[in-house]
Amino acid sequence: MSYPQTRMQRYRQNPTLRTLFAEHTLRPECCIQPLFIHEGLTEARDIGSLPGMVQHSLSSLRLEIDMLWLAGVRAVILFGIPLTKDATASTASDENGILQKAIRQIKTQRPEMTVIADCCLCEYTTHGHCGIPGPKAPLFDHDATLAQLSEIALSYAAAGVDIVAPSGMMDGMIQSLRSSLDQHGFSDILLMSYAVKYASAFYGPFRHAAGSGDVFSGNRRHHQMAYTQRKEALREAQLDVQEGADILMIKPGMPYLDIVADVRRETTLPVAVYQVSGEYAMLHAAAKAGVFTYEEAMLESLMAFVRAGANWIITYDAKRVRDFITPMLG
Ligand code: PBG
Repeated sequence: MSYPQTRMQRYRQNPTLRTLFAEHTLRPECCIQPLFIHEGLTEARDIGSLPGMVQHSLSSLRLEIDMLWLAGVRAVILFGIPLTKDATASTASDENGILQKAIRQIKTQRPEMTVIADCCLCEYTTHGHCGIPGPKAPLFDHDATLAQLSEIALSYAAAGVDIVAPSGMMDGMIQSLRSSLDQHGFSDILLMSYAVKYASAFYGPFRHAAGSGDVFSGNRRHHQMAYTQRKEALREAQLDVQEGADILMIKPGMPYLDIVADVRRETTLPVAVYQVSGEYAMLHAAAKAGVFTYEEAMLESLMAFVRAGANWIITYDAKRVRDFITPMLG
């Protein structure tokens, strides 16, 4: 039998050609490392559900930042685990709260490191909800929630944060945060919106990591998006664009690549994707069961995000990305 003139395998003959023809590539500078900082710890503590991840103390955070910088990572997203909680998350905006301290420490230690802070109530509320409950539970008291989110964002801004990342899927959060920041002289601070966040089983290990597995409320379907929805994701994204978001994030990652591609097509803003805790834990569990080599499967997943159009990837393995891309691409 005769082959056609154009033979696709000509492109794939050897590693040099494969690298030369690579349409997409992955850089550690585009990967963002999530970090958990616990107010009550003096040293790092392992998170059982997330292999290799820890809850940091302020001193272990210092070492971690140096290591991340050496690994080529240029941005971190911080989650705080406080000692005290209440119904309105009032400790979340404390200027001496754990996250505010962590931000100040990182910006003093390594000012060039981009510091992103997750801005939500759920780690700071006794009930574990992302908002302040209103009279018509489970609906939130919207105005009170937005007001508290603004207080939190302003305290992060005063501590020196570069990017505020509201993760609660509260309607109007971007507009409200943008105007509060601007009014207080923080118009240089960027807003990365968790624009399209689905109610997902894949957040399971995060709830342990954030130290509140028992209190975190499992069902967030009245404010996070339903996974039956695709067009609605574009409406969420468009609203955030109109409200003044600087970066749009989609979450989770792998099961939602259609959404990443849709949002990429519809916006000119930078697009980020969050490879969430359940995805990371699943890759580890499968590798442990002998299903595949962890690094190969991780790289393949990360490249899928790039291919779908993500500019930034939030991944628990940001620190190791440089170690495994160079030998494996090609
Ligand atoms: C809420 C928040 C969550 C995650 C990031 N921010 C949990 C949730 O919405 O239930 C999940 C991240 C992950 O699973 O890695 N502040």
